[in-house]
Amino acid sequence: MKRAIVIYDTKFGNTEKIARALACGMEKQGVKVDCVKADEVDVDKLVEYDFLVIGGPTHAFGVSKPMKAFLEKLRSVDIKGKKAFAFDTKYKSWLAGSAGKGIEKTLKGLGMSIVKPHSSAIIKGSEGPLEEGMEEMFERIGGEVQN
Ligand SMILES: Cc1cc2nc3c(=O)[nH]c(=O)nc-3n(C[C@H](O)[C@H](O)[C@H](O)COP(=O)(O)O)c2cc1C
Repeated sequence: MKRAIVIYDTKFGNTEKIARALACGMEKQGVKVDCVKADEVDVDKLVEYDFLVIGGPTHAFGVSKPMKAFLEKLRSVDIKGKKAFAFDTKYKSWLAGSAGKGIEKTLKGLGMSIVKPHSSAIIKGSEGPLEEGMEEMFERIGGEVQN
């Protein structure tokens, strides 16, 4: 059975909801999925997974500090060639920036195989809530990306 891990950062809980929706969509396709907050991930265990899904909230137009710290730790493990997909939560505005974009760039730089361009879940305010339909959308994406 394929194994995947969804790794997320979150300050107010919205990105965690999206992470869990992605995990749910993947599980429905028969993938064994763990869903873990970035600061709780044991990076040495990542070699056990076929697929890494990584996302966080957009802070100051880019990647949040805890997610940056996590991405830095990835340099010490061999995850080259593994499948990856990045996501974020952010405002709808084109001025908002995107954490997912930065995460994807890092994963590409580590030699991972990006299965789908990063996707964003839109929030209505800094603390949420998510726009209607976002969790459903990411559950669907979860079902698609694991193929
Ligand atoms: C310090 C800080 C900076 C932020 N900067 C941005 C930003 O540049 N662009 C954006 O779209 N949202 C920004 N936001 C809003 C976050 O995107 C929002 O809080 C996040 O998506 C909610 O996810 P969470 O509940 O998982 O923390 C910022 C939020 C905080 C707390």
